[in-house]
Amino acid sequence: MSKKLDWKICWITGATGGIGREIALLLAKRGVKVAATARSKDQLADLAKQNSAISAFPADVTDAKALGGVAQQIEKQLGPIDLVIPSAGVYAPFNVAELDLKSIHRTNAVNIDGVVNTIAAALPFMLARHKGQIAIMGSLFGYTGLPESGSYGASKAYMINLAEGLELDLAPKGIAVSLINPGFVNTALNADYDRPKYFIMKPTKAARRIVEGLDKGGFEVAFPGRVAIFFKTIRVLPKRLMFWILRTAFARD
Ligand SMILES: NC(=O)c1ccc[n+]([C@@H]2O[C@H](COP(=O)([O-])OP(=O)(O)OC[C@H]3O[C@@H](n4cnc5c(N)ncnc54)[C@H](OP(=O)(O)O)[C@@H]3O)[C@@H](O)[C@H]2O)c1
Repeated sequence: MSKKLDWKICWITGATGGIGREIALLLAKRGVKVAATARSKDQLADLAKQNSAISAFPADVTDAKALGGVAQQIEKQLGPIDLVIPSAGVYAPFNVAELDLKSIHRTNAVNIDGVVNTIAAALPFMLARHKGQIAIMGSLFGYTGLPESGSYGASKAYMINLAEGLELDLAPKGIAVSLINPGFVNTALNADYDRPKYFIMKPTKAARRIVEGLDKGGFEVAFPGRVAIFFKTIRVLPKRLMFWILRTAFARD
């Protein structure tokens, strides 16, 4: 760890998931009070039992009003939120042969609206204090189109653009914005994804990379390095070549 963490209170959504849970546990172990949000009350209660620094604030991120209430509750019960990590997310394949509009809309609702709702709930408190950090959970898969990722990948491309825009708007107001772009992490989210998962990582390792990266204070935390370089460089190739590489690299086994 490069420097001592100076966050006191972190609000994380998707806190019962593979990545969110490990981030919550890691931050709590290091003395940060963690407000944990997800829908499952039982799983949140189980998480809170692991460390007394973790408190459960159940909510559905698609419910903007409920999230506003949660942010108020956290400020009242724990104190000022100085780090918010909107990490709740879902993956559903965009299968062009059998379009499932319901799951596509659900992905947009959780991965896009859910993140915007979370930021909107925490932002007024941060703006009033001219202080805070928003660490948006994107994905390296937001950098290019990928087979059957029309809705998940697009939702993550939104995160990249959103984080860049917010950084421009919020840095002058004293609020830091960070973008977290992991590659494949071994969680329930991609359990049904049946294409190659290059350099897949354990959630514990991903959480360590995330917390260390946020602690360093740069804008983007992207890993593993090889996958990050792949997705960022492939974008600048001629499109026909880019599509050929992506089709080949992500063909089903
Ligand atoms: N796994 C990867 O390979 C990978 C790679 C890059 C980025 N990411 C991103 O990292 C984040 C976490 O992913 P993960 O792999 O840890 O996923 P996960 O294990 O499937 O966990 C998803 C989490 O989101 C919560 N959630 C889902 N819908 C929700 C809703 N409507 N309201 C509130 N919470 C909701 C779930 O809890 P409940 O179901 O109880 O609500 C759970 O805590 C996501 O944004 C994902 O896109 C993942």
